Amino acid sequence: MTKGLSVDTLLSNGCAVVLAAGKSKRFKTETSKLLAPVCGKPMILYPITRLAQLSLPTTVVLGHQAESIIASLPSHSLFQFVVQNEQLGTGHALALTKQHWQNDYVLVLKGDTPLVSKELLEDLINVHLSKKSDVTFCVTHPFDPRGYGRVIEEKGKVFIIEERDCTSEQRQTTLVNAGVYVFSRSFLNASIDLLTPSSQTGEYYLTQLIHIASEKGYQVHTVPVPFDQVRGVNTIEELWEVEQIRRSSIIKKLMGEGVFFTMPQTVHIEEECSVGPNSVVGPGVILKGKTTVGSYCILGAYSVLENCVIGERTQLLPFTYIENSLIASHARLGPYARIHQKSSIESSTEIGNFVEVKHSHLGSKTKAKHLSYIGDAHIGSGVNMGAGSITCNHDGLAKQKTTIHDHAYIGSNTILVAPVEVGSHSFTAAGSVITQEVPPHSLAIARARQTNKEGYLPKAVKQKKSLNEKVVPLPEEIKYKVEGSV
Ligand code: UD1
Ligand code: CA
Repeated sequence: MTKGLSVDTLLSNGCAVVLAAGKSKRFKTETSKLLAPVCGKPMILYPITRLAQLSLPTTVVLGHQAESIIASLPSHSLFQFVVQNEQLGTGHALALTKQHWQNDYVLVLKGDTPLVSKELLEDLINVHLSKKSDVTFCVTHPFDPRGYGRVIEEKGKVFIIEERDCTSEQRQTTLVNAGVYVFSRSFLNASIDLLTPSSQTGEYYLTQLIHIASEKGYQVHTVPVPFDQVRGVNTIEELWEVEQIRRSSIIKKLMGEGVFFTMPQTVHIEEECSVGPNSVVGPGVILKGKTTVGSYCILGAYSVLENCVIGERTQLLPFTYIENSLIASHARLGPYARIHQKSSIESSTEIGNFVEVKHSHLGSKTKAKHLSYIGDAHIGSGVNMGAGSITCNHDGLAKQKTTIHDHAYIGSNTILVAPVEVGSHSFTAAGSVITQEVPPHSLAIARARQTNKEGYLPKAVKQKKSLNEKVVPLPEEIKYKVEGSV
């Protein structure tokens, strides 16, 4: 937490730079690592969001896949972009932002370090200003320091030595550079042109600035921070580690608010999801996008919810899949139900196994409990959709609407050929193919009447005598009957 200077004083005199032009070589994917999602949001959005929270004018250095990265960011008057056409290193990237160092200090973050908190940045700036420092940067002790620049102190001076440049003794050091820095503008202006390319890689390292500051007697301070907040993401494995940490903190926050998780380690949840108190989240549940679940809900095992709102006391039985839809309170859905494309389900409605609801509205206390397809339909309340009832919503050219009014009873295996309307309190006979409007309070029977042909097989055989020998040898008793009746 920030001690000493007020937050307003801390922030009024600063500006920020985010380095995000790198090629993501170690990530080995076509798309830049900065667009890889962490709990549903592109990684680059995390540092950007923190800086927006601090209201610091921010310059983002982009290069590799700059256009896609810009498209993923919210437009904000505080942000501006600088393009680094050739990725000549972090020092070169910072140098390109020189004309935007408009305030007394410059906070430098990297786009691939998503878990940095607002409080950590405030603390760092506080140390920098209160100690009248020229260079202040975060250091940390990872369990495994591989891949990080080591922080070496010699004769009271601090240096950062990149791993590839370390001696085997220096490599043993577990104190590393977290890659989060504050520089005073006067130091940067005096030093940025002194950077020289690495003899190993030809890149200009930002970390050489610490060397320059120490050698020239500038004030250099380090701030120890927890490794989990400054984990860098260079590989997909590191992305996975970072996402696990972020996901756990979202889950722990919900636990603190009274949400039960039966197997939290199996749940995936994203940044903009919320669950109300006293709800239970079962094993393997996936909550994505902007999803809001009310209180006292039960989310059964392996339910998947994306961009939906669920009211209170609603139960999802296992393997329910809901996307871009609204489900009211006291509903019961699943197992194996699919609700999608802006469907809305009102309270106390029941949707059972193998039922798909697409772009449809179902009123309260309506039931569709087994094996149905409800597409482009408006269904009133208290309706019963029998097992196997289907809306034929596509006429070969376009989608057509089915309307079923309150308290209608749709018999099992009814086919509703849209556009079609069933009046309130009406019935359709099981197996009907409904192609015309059904008026209220009626029974629609739209199927062939049953006729029974008694003694069918013997008669058939009589008509086709050859059948006995050539096609299907008849059982003895039938053969006897056929012969006897001739
Ligand atoms: C960097 C630090 C290292 C530190 C580590 C912490 C340097 C030289 N090393 O190493 O001391 O321990 O972070 O995570 O700074 N970028 C550009 N332009 C470039 C090169 C990189 O904008 O020309 C951007 C990348 O997109 C990335 C960031 O700078 O977001 C860091 O680059 P990266 O190559 O990942 O540095 P590290 O090897 O992690
Ligand atoms: Ca990195």
